[in-house]
Amino acid sequence: MNSQDFAFDPLNEATRRSPFPLYARARREFPVYEHCGLPVLSVFRYADVEAILRDAETWSSNFARFVQPYLLERPELAEEMPPFFATSDGEYHRRMRSLISKAFTAKMVRALEPAMRAAVDALLDKALAQGEVDLVPALTAPFPIQVIAQLLGVPAEDGPQFQKWSRELTQNQVQGVLRLPGPEMVERHVEATRAMHAYFKTLIEERRVKPRADLVSALVAVHKDGAQLSYPELLQMLTVLLVAGNATTTALISNMMVELLAHRDQLARLRTAPGLIPTAVDEVLRFASPVQAMPRLAAKPTELHGRQVETGQLVLVWIGSANRDAAVFERPDEFDVGRAYNPHLAFGIGPHSCIGSLLATLEGCVVLRAMLERTRSFELTNDEPLPLHSSFVARSYARLPMRLVPA
Ligand code: HEM
Repeated sequence: MNSQDFAFDPLNEATRRSPFPLYARARREFPVYEHCGLPVLSVFRYADVEAILRDAETWSSNFARFVQPYLLERPELAEEMPPFFATSDGEYHRRMRSLISKAFTAKMVRALEPAMRAAVDALLDKALAQGEVDLVPALTAPFPIQVIAQLLGVPAEDGPQFQKWSRELTQNQVQGVLRLPGPEMVERHVEATRAMHAYFKTLIEERRVKPRADLVSALVAVHKDGAQLSYPELLQMLTVLLVAGNATTTALISNMMVELLAHRDQLARLRTAPGLIPTAVDEVLRFASPVQAMPRLAAKPTELHGRQVETGQLVLVWIGSANRDAAVFERPDEFDVGRAYNPHLAFGIGPHSCIGSLLATLEGCVVLRAMLERTRSFELTNDEPLPLHSSFVARSYARLPMRLVPA
């Protein structure tokens, strides 16, 4: 299965910067790859990635011991901090997901568009006045936080606090599922979760008395209606929502800038045909997928391309590779903002597929439209390699030093 002359180390900086040729070779020669020195198998072909993500009976998403390490170390906290539904299986996951779908509707997302545009415009006003900025703190990081704040119905000023909690809860992502967090990190998770719960409790009580057209009010209504959602579950649901959509959407917007600058013909095409904005955002999601890989655990003995897989085996499904698979995409390594057929897996697929996909896509479209309308040009201020985001499953940049010229 393994080869002397092929190494795919997802923690290696050079590999992370340019994984695509390695993905291509893995798809051809090593559809199931056993990593040297890491307790994990990887799959790279679209068909395998799709099949695993769809089959939640065989492939578990129960990663509580990594993303909620306190559940392993301090099981007495399980009642106060029940499992996140995104990293749960079976009936619990189905119940929580169906309840959130009742509250988090497409209508609610679409209604946010004017507020999104106002938020981008305010951030761009400042950035354009400066001329040269690091676009991550100036736009791509604060914007998704402000949108979530708007969605939940909390003041935009609390955005930085949200960002801090989000960071605390995702700090284990550098090594992700490859290494359990240490005791100090467990304590930080507990502290951040308690702080968030305290914040949400105040908000929930306010909405109970005076509902508004926001997601917290809608979830409070679900909680009240059926007794199907306990109070700690409601708090954890809000916690997941706050955390899941931040770094991912920041990555989408950052990657959009980087890819448009790397493919200036496509940027020029968008300037003359802004009707292509929605397909352009989908193309960024495919070409530079913010989440390159998702983990799964074998829930029972199974087989992958003839290789026996035991219960508990950790597998990484490489979404970033699936999205470049020539078996599905024409000219897979070409960045084409007008791509018509684009069934990318950037938001996953199957029972755990992203519930924020519409929101994230709309955010991407709103930012792109504002950038096209409000700038005559934008460019990176230097040719140095951009620093990568720390997580090995993310494709994103820690900084984007840019020069913006107003329209
Ligand atoms: C470009 C931005 C985003 C990307 C690339 C992305 C990607 C993904 C992917 C790949 C999954 C599937 C996980 C799996 O199969 O285990 C997922 C699930 C999820 N996403 Fe997103 N996401 C984005 C934005 C958002 C936003 C804005 C929200 C919420 C406001 C959100 C909430 C969630 C939740 C709650 C799940 C778990 C669903 C479940 O387990 O049933 N995401 N996302």
